[in-house]
Amino acid sequence: MLGGARLAGEVAVVGAKNSALKLMAAALLAVGETTLTNVPDIVDVTIMAELLRRLGCTVQQDVAAGTVRLSVPEQLGHRADYELVRAMRASISVLGPLVARCGLADVAVPGGDAIGSRGLDLHAAGLTRLGAKVHIDHGYLVAQAPDGLVGAPIALEFPSVGATENILMAAVLARGTTILDNAAREPEIVDLAQLLQAMGGHVEGAGTSTIVVTGVGELHAVEHRVIGDRVAAGTYAFGAAITGGDVLVRGVDPQHLRIVLDALREGGSQVRRQEGAVRVTGPARPRAVDVATLPFPGFPTGLQPFALVLNSVADGSAMVTENMFEARFHTAQELARLGADVRVDGHHALVRGRERLSGAPVVGSDIRAAAALVLAGLVAEGVTTVEGVAHVRRGYPDFAGDLRSLGADVSTEVVPPVALLPGRAQR
Ligand code: UD1
Repeated sequence: MLGGARLAGEVAVVGAKNSALKLMAAALLAVGETTLTNVPDIVDVTIMAELLRRLGCTVQQDVAAGTVRLSVPEQLGHRADYELVRAMRASISVLGPLVARCGLADVAVPGGDAIGSRGLDLHAAGLTRLGAKVHIDHGYLVAQAPDGLVGAPIALEFPSVGATENILMAAVLARGTTILDNAAREPEIVDLAQLLQAMGGHVEGAGTSTIVVTGVGELHAVEHRVIGDRVAAGTYAFGAAITGGDVLVRGVDPQHLRIVLDALREGGSQVRRQEGAVRVTGPARPRAVDVATLPFPGFPTGLQPFALVLNSVADGSAMVTENMFEARFHTAQELARLGADVRVDGHHALVRGRERLSGAPVVGSDIRAAAALVLAGLVAEGVTTVEGVAHVRRGYPDFAGDLRSLGADVSTEVVPPVALLPGRAQR
């Protein structure tokens, strides 16, 4: 038997980080006040708000109400500083809107981060196809289109989420029609397209591989609700599956988690979908399940660390394959410190399930890795200390509070950022 906590009860997720940040950037496209609702209270939203302020916007965030009001002036700045881009890579999503609005954008190149090197070549190639001149200057990606952008056919080499978004936000104000092939199909792309349409843009086909954008002269500010966070919802669904728990997750469209829920079912969980919610009841011990990350509708890379944790305590062996980002197996090394049997070979991790993990100090290197290690701590005997839970605040408004409300014994210390997770065996 696994020693550890069992998550049970209800939890609600708020708006998706990966949508809210892009919608905030898209607000730059229209002069006036754009209001976003269901915005998560996370650090990255604060960073994006600061970036938009430096570009000349007024940004008011009402944390309790989950709203962000963005007043966008006629005249915008065009520079996104390294300091902010380094703090949050999603800052690069101001590139498309700025070049569309100002005819000029200089956005710092983020550099490598904890989940492998993530290029900007597809962003740059897309904007070049729309007529911008793009070059790197002293660490900044500079895109110039003083006479405006012109729609064009664009075929992405890879369905990059960020490049699809930047191209959509640029094309919506370009002259003529852009046909974007091999576009990313993530729900966050659909959310962005819906915002652009509400603003008066002409965008068709979002959610499929071909998106057609017919440029308009200007857009108007609107109010828009951010879609629910499928990765946060998936986190709690995995939490139920890993701990033999029973969790009703509200605030998410279960369609956005289809492959994930299939994997959990294969691992022995009972999954019941409801309107805007999903209930997952975990087995006493999960069965091992093979997982390979892919662009949507494939298994999301953001949930890959949780698949490692599930397989670490599962009955049987499984292969977890990472196809989206290099070097995203940091969780595997840390899980080994908890006694998991994980062997990493390139893009593959072979996991042989163990009956139990044993608590130890571990380090979380990014949002999902840190959250996954916290869940591992729930099923590890004794105390697990996760260093780096500050990362968790970038993706989950109140992760420890949510886990406590589901019955887990989790505490956090702010300085240094640490979570203490006594497993049941100690209590
Ligand atoms: C977004 C999400 C991230 C998620 C990922 C995949 C945000 C803020 N982040 O990241 O949480 O895990 O989608 O669903 O929304 N690539 C290039 N050249 C480019 C662009 C991308 O080579 O110009 C490569 C990257 O190195 C990576 C892969 O494409 O290996 C996927 O990247 P992409 O889909 O762009 O993800 P992000 O938008 O960075």
